[in-house]
Amino acid sequence: MKIVGERIIIRYPKVEDTKFYYQNYIKDKDVNTYLEHAWISKIKSIKDMQKELRRRRNGYKKKEYNFTILNKETNELMGGALLHINEYHQRGEIGLWLAKKYWGKGYGSKAFKLLIDCGFNNFNLVKITSGACFDNKASLALQKKFGFKNEGIGRKHFRLASGRMIDTIRMGILREEWKKCQF
Ligand SMILES: CC(C)(COP(=O)(O)OP(=O)(O)OC[C@H]1O[C@@H](n2cnc3c(N)ncnc32)[C@H](O)[C@@H]1OP(=O)(O)O)[C@@H](O)C(=O)NCCC(=O)NCCS
Repeated sequence: MKIVGERIIIRYPKVEDTKFYYQNYIKDKDVNTYLEHAWISKIKSIKDMQKELRRRRNGYKKKEYNFTILNKETNELMGGALLHINEYHQRGEIGLWLAKKYWGKGYGSKAFKLLIDCGFNNFNLVKITSGACFDNKASLALQKKFGFKNEGIGRKHFRLASGRMIDTIRMGILREEWKKCQF
């Protein structure tokens, strides 16, 4: 699957994306501070990353759509995203990351909107959910910007790489709320 947005493109990960993921996602502690270290800690080499990307590329078979984010004009690799569909409950879970040099330039917003549109337009979803660690200001700002509402706090719910247990916030947006949005 490939979706073309305003300034970005999202498409399934390819094996040739491996080095980019390894350097900008696995090895960059600023990028992965609030991401899932249960599996990040298991990626010890480019080869491990390649295997993981192959798994992600095939995720669509289980309704776990993983994407690489690219700059539409230059074709540069910028980050990764996911849209996991729960068909029975008509829910989708989204998430994304960008390489550090692309932060704060509006690309996260473009990718987030593309994922939400993709979820509501292509799957019969009632709701799209997302989550963030309590300290992850950028992620929370992004979700609030797009009208996601707080659906609850998970106390000491997530282990950071440092070992610190952190609270998390579950966020969600309903189809009818998204329709009313101006984005
Ligand atoms: C979260 C992330 C994708 C945001 O991408 P981005 O391109 O920097 O976001 P944008 O530039 O589109 O900004 C979106 C909004 O968040 C705000 N924002 C961005 N970074 C912020 C920060 N550090 N603190 C407070 N607000 C912030 C922006 O001001 C903007 O709001 P506005 O348009 O009303 O001004 C990016 O920071 C990232 O990859 N972080 C590391 C991975 C991660 O934690 N992902 C989320 C997992 S839950």
